[in-house]
Amino acid sequence: MSVVEAAHYGRVNRYLHWGMALLLAWQFTTTSVRVLLSDTALDELLWSTHRPTGFLLLALVVVRVAWAFASRASQPPALSAAARLGHLTLYGLMLVVPSVALLRQYGSGRAFEPFGIPLMPGFEGERIEWMVAAGSLFHGVLGWTLLALIVGHVAMVVWHRRNGQDVLPRMLVR
Ligand code: HEM
Ligand code: HEM
Repeated sequence: MSVVEAAHYGRVNRYLHWGMALLLAWQFTTTSVRVLLSDTALDELLWSTHRPTGFLLLALVVVRVAWAFASRASQPPALSAAARLGHLTLYGLMLVVPSVALLRQYGSGRAFEPFGIPLMPGFEGERIEWMVAAGSLFHGVLGWTLLALIVGHVAMVVWHRRNGQDVLPRMLVR
């Protein structure tokens, strides 16, 4: 076993990584169906889960970033500066994408109760234009950018594996 494979991420990091990967796969299924099969029964069914799942992803990434920071001394080192930058960008987008959507949700004045939690009561009167505009400008485009980076992330894992630096065991749940 090489030095790269011997080190591995802690249990909490690993469960959060794969749990969020599953939820993000679901989230991008809802958006893809929205784009490719809009106004179908499947779209309506899946889209109803987009906002609450997005909220859950934001809550999880806040925990994940805090945990990654607190446990940084005991985690395996990044393979390169580029890998570190790539991971930081993934974390950044996982924070920003749902945050700007929540900003827009608040600005729209409509109530939002994910999983029955009264997060935003909503309000009467004019919507807050700059919040709605910021969400509409950034949420979709940064969301798709996150998907592109995830594809690149998986490609890099496969590439490293084929080139004698298998980092997959570092992230596997054992
Ligand atoms: C939904 C998508 C995913 C996201 C957002 C994501 C994000 C991340 C992030 C931010 C890290 C860095 C962890 C840290 O250093 O704190 C990481 C590490 C890692 N991810 Fe993912 N990941 C995703 C899916 C996957 C998939 C599908 C694979 C399988 C090929 C994978 C394999 C790995 C591996 C092996 C590492 C450890 C890399 C290393 O040790 O240098 N990830 N991931
Ligand atoms: C990590 C979490 C999230 C991801 C990855 C994500 C991803 C996306 C993507 C890629 C789109 C574009 C679909 C298109 O091009 O038509 C989109 C649209 C949308 N999302 Fe999210 N989303 C997340 C969280 C949220 C949250 C928390 C909310 C609301 C509370 C939300 C509300 C919406 C709405 C209303 C749209 C349609 C309008 C638009 O395209 O901006 N999303 N989302």
